[in-house]
Amino acid sequence: MSIKPNLILFFWVFSCLFSSLTLARFPSSAIRAELARRNSNKPYKAKYFTQILDHFNFNPKSYQTFQHRYLINDTYWGGPNKNSPIFVYTGNEGDIEWFAQNTGFMFDIAPDFEALLVFIEHRFYGKSIPFGGDKDVAYSNASTLGYLTSAQALADYATLVIDLKKNLTAVDAPVVVFGGSYGGMLASWFRLKYPHIAIGALASSAPILNFENITSPYSFNNIITRDFRSESENCYKVIKGSWEKIENIGKRSGGLELLRKSFGICKNYIDAGALEGWLQTAFVYTAMTDYPTPSNFLNPLPAYPVKQMCKAIDDPKTANDTFAKLYGAANVYYNYSGTATCFNLDESSDPHGLDMWGWQACTEMIMPTEGNNKESIFPESEWSYSDRAASCKDYFGVHPRPNWITTEFGGHDIYRVLKRYGSNMIFFNGLRDPWSGGGVLKNISNTIVAIVAEQGAHHVDLRFATKEDPKWLRDVRKMETNIISKWISQYYHDLELDF
Ligand SMILES: *[C@@H]1O[C@H](CO)[C@@H](O)[C@H](O)[C@H]1NC(C)=O
Ligand SMILES: *[C@@H]1O[C@H](CO)[C@@H](O)[C@H](O)[C@H]1NC(C)=O
Ligand SMILES: *[C@@H]1O[C@H](CO)[C@@H](O)[C@H](O)[C@H]1NC(C)=O
Ligand SMILES: *[C@@H]1O[C@H](CO)[C@@H](O)[C@H](O)[C@H]1NC(C)=O
Ligand SMILES: *[C@@H]1O[C@H](CO)[C@@H](O)[C@H](O)[C@H]1NC(C)=O
Ligand SMILES: *[C@@H]1O[C@H](CO)[C@@H](O)[C@H](O)[C@H]1NC(C)=O
Ligand SMILES: *[C@@H]1O[C@H](CO)[C@@H](O)[C@H](O)[C@H]1NC(C)=O
Repeated sequence: MSIKPNLILFFWVFSCLFSSLTLARFPSSAIRAELARRNSNKPYKAKYFTQILDHFNFNPKSYQTFQHRYLINDTYWGGPNKNSPIFVYTGNEGDIEWFAQNTGFMFDIAPDFEALLVFIEHRFYGKSIPFGGDKDVAYSNASTLGYLTSAQALADYATLVIDLKKNLTAVDAPVVVFGGSYGGMLASWFRLKYPHIAIGALASSAPILNFENITSPYSFNNIITRDFRSESENCYKVIKGSWEKIENIGKRSGGLELLRKSFGICKNYIDAGALEGWLQTAFVYTAMTDYPTPSNFLNPLPAYPVKQMCKAIDDPKTANDTFAKLYGAANVYYNYSGTATCFNLDESSDPHGLDMWGWQACTEMIMPTEGNNKESIFPESEWSYSDRAASCKDYFGVHPRPNWITTEFGGHDIYRVLKRYGSNMIFFNGLRDPWSGGGVLKNISNTIVAIVAEQGAHHVDLRFATKEDPKWLRDVRKMETNIISKWISQYYHDLELDF
């Protein structure tokens, strides 16, 4: 049994297959009203900076610029005279406003720190599109997309922060970088590469060890398996047994129509592989965003959505009707609002502008996560670098460089290496998050600290605090705040001594 490999799988990294429903669920006038409401009271101002396209080449042709967006909030800032800190979010693969709205932690702690908040967009995403802001040109082929790399993005952040501090006459203000997921990887790499700009980094759910063979290619799906199995053995078994059933029914005459009806799929559909991919997406993203409170990051979800999915699967009313059970689980992820009329497997909308992750996943970001062992909740399969490379050749005409990230930023033997190099980093990981397998889970030194939350999910620490937050989450945030506060006092101490 195998599921057709396709580019969508790459987006399983941080971004996703936004299959249709996010938009289908609301009438467009409602979306417009909602956007208008949000526009009127956004907690930041958007600004644009003229950014260099190619930081690593003096060839005049590559010496072009683009308009680079960042968001700023100075409400709480103590100002330059007090050298009050600047908290910078190192943007990841999507619209920076979406990340800012999902990084409430920075807003929550800014008053106590009297911090300036800055969220910088990643080049080629959102409104920070090179080549005159024209996506059709910027995304056309390797001659333009070649400028979409992590090293260029980090150099963008460095350039922008230095210029911003100069403009604010705040050259001595300490900068702390924050990021989640790929943004967390960038935050930690920024601290390593630009220690003269950032005094510390909070890297949340940053799988910097998910490259080459540092982390097992089975770890990602093993964690998803463990999440569902921790709710009930039956839940795990029903999901695991469903793939073969779907394929078998799919082969029977009239089987596809039966599947379509069982899952509430729209009329334009369908093949069994697409249905399996759609279901798998729901399980992967629900595991990633298994937050303890209701949320709306990838999709609107209840608190503890993995538990809710398993509740649907374990529901005695559906007895041994596997499809009814899986349909119930899919509804948790795709229809929590209860307004989906049918599920459209064909249409894929991308409301957060994540599409060019495909290019990154075909060049530097070769993160082996797609292995499934015998125990996996998904069909058994091997991670195949050559399959990835072949798709990338087809799609973008490029050969990946699977060893570049570890060459540029390290990763092998990180505990030994960073023990003697670097300081002031926090790696947060929640063990419910499939990406935690590629995270830093042990303390490296007194100043490079791992915070691990057994019940945590993907960068849950960075979310806005709520009254319902469990104690472990409040403790994680308290610990992070204390550590950041220590970095800043130490910095002021050094500044006073004029080190
Ligand atoms: C900064 O954020 C706070 C909290 O969300 C908000 O009340 C304030 O209006 C924001 N300030 C600016 C300048 O956007
Ligand atoms: C690549 O894209 C650029 C910009 O759109 C275009 O000028 C060029 O002809 C394209 N090259 C190839 C080989 O398609
Ligand atoms: C700094 O000020 C200059 C001159 O006004 C402006 O062009 C530039 O965009 C500013 N830098 C940032 C990061 O906003
Ligand atoms: C990764 O592969 C290299 C080369 O084959 C090997 O030396 C190393 O031990 C492997 N590392 C891990 C963590 O498996
Ligand atoms: C479960 O399936 C078996 C056959 O596979 C069937 O005989 C039985 O009636 C089913 N149980 C329920 C409660 O539907
Ligand atoms: C979505 O949920 C509502 C409310 O439970 C239900 O009536 C509707 O049929 C569901 N949509 C689909 C496509 O199953
Ligand atoms: C790392 O050290 C801190 C104390 O500095 C401790 O609270 C924390 O639990 C340690 N992390 C791990 C993963 O052991």
